[in-house]
Amino acid sequence: MAPIPTTDNKRVIMNKLILLAPFILLLSCSGGKNAKTDNKAEITGKYSITEMAFGMLEEKAITEYTITNPSGMQVSIINYGGTVTKLITPDKNKNMGDVILGFDSLGGYLQKNDPYFGSLVGRYANRIANAKFNVKGKTFPLAANDHGNSLHGGNKGYDKVVWSAAKLPGDSSLELTYLSKDGEEGYPGNLNVKVVYTLTGDNGIKIDYSATTDKTTPVNLTSHCYFNLSAGADSTILDHQLEIAADKYTPVNDVLIPTGEIATTKGTPMDFTTPKAIGRDILQVKGGFDHNWVLNKNGNSLEKVAGLYEPNSGRYMEVLTTEPGLQFYSGNFLDGTLTGTKNGQKYVQHGALCLEAQHYPDSPNEPSFPNTLLKPGETYRQTTEYRFSVK
Ligand code: BGC
Repeated sequence: MAPIPTTDNKRVIMNKLILLAPFILLLSCSGGKNAKTDNKAEITGKYSITEMAFGMLEEKAITEYTITNPSGMQVSIINYGGTVTKLITPDKNKNMGDVILGFDSLGGYLQKNDPYFGSLVGRYANRIANAKFNVKGKTFPLAANDHGNSLHGGNKGYDKVVWSAAKLPGDSSLELTYLSKDGEEGYPGNLNVKVVYTLTGDNGIKIDYSATTDKTTPVNLTSHCYFNLSAGADSTILDHQLEIAADKYTPVNDVLIPTGEIATTKGTPMDFTTPKAIGRDILQVKGGFDHNWVLNKNGNSLEKVAGLYEPNSGRYMEVLTTEPGLQFYSGNFLDGTLTGTKNGQKYVQHGALCLEAQHYPDSPNEPSFPNTLLKPGETYRQTTEYRFSVK
């Protein structure tokens, strides 16, 4: 226990404090050389990419790359799973906050029950029914890792592999490449995959995907960030307002496989054509939202397809994509039990949502859905951008 000060040594302490006062004042004002005393953005006026060791896996170094844009927005990405680990954007009072869910360290991302936080997903995002598909009369069996179906590329999808990373000139883009070998997770063909993350000057994170193959194969790549625009202030996204430019969606069966039908959203809880609080109709949808919206856009031009607004922080996120579909998943399977989360936060049910731009689930088995087969000689190209502002 600390000795109780007597009147005499109280005076000594006071005298010492008076002598030290100017230094204490100086330290608390400057916050030390590098420490920032608030969470306002550091306006750097330029782009930069910094690197930080994030661990080792399969004898490969895992690095966290942080891109900062001139106005101080930041995105951090690791070469394990091409995972976005942090996305730091300003709120309406210019306070910076991390708007995606994730873990504090590599160990968190290696957990078996990591729900694909921030990862790149492939070779085929979402589900393939009965874990198989046919190409030219030949059946390709896949890992049945979800109620007899194949989810997110199988047991070891692109979210669980180590990508090669390279900083691109200009310090605003990180290029990730991965060779997915013929037969990997049951998929035919060597697939050379390239993903370029770019932090733009207007606070967008743009993801450019490309791929080539030497055998015909289904390809459907996406990004699986879990957004909560309150940056940790609100435990759920039920008050976030969502708008999706889609008059139609693909209904699913009990294990989330599309029935093949393309149904209207009009007059149903699936209608997000005008902004609506996510919590408003969620109880009318068994299990919560976990469906593919058939986007109104035409062809493969890059268009705005969704908007997400969080009223307290004022943060607004637009989703632009070249893809024909958007999987809106309302974090239904989060249950507050994950450990190693950022700052020990409890990620409860609906604690975040995903807006995954992609082709429709199970397209390889649904001939009426847009084609997902990539042939030798062709190049797969898609772009999706998440753009942040306040209102
Ligand atoms: C799917 C969900 C799945 C989740 C995995 C989403 O893309 O739509 O059904 O549970 O990924 O975390």
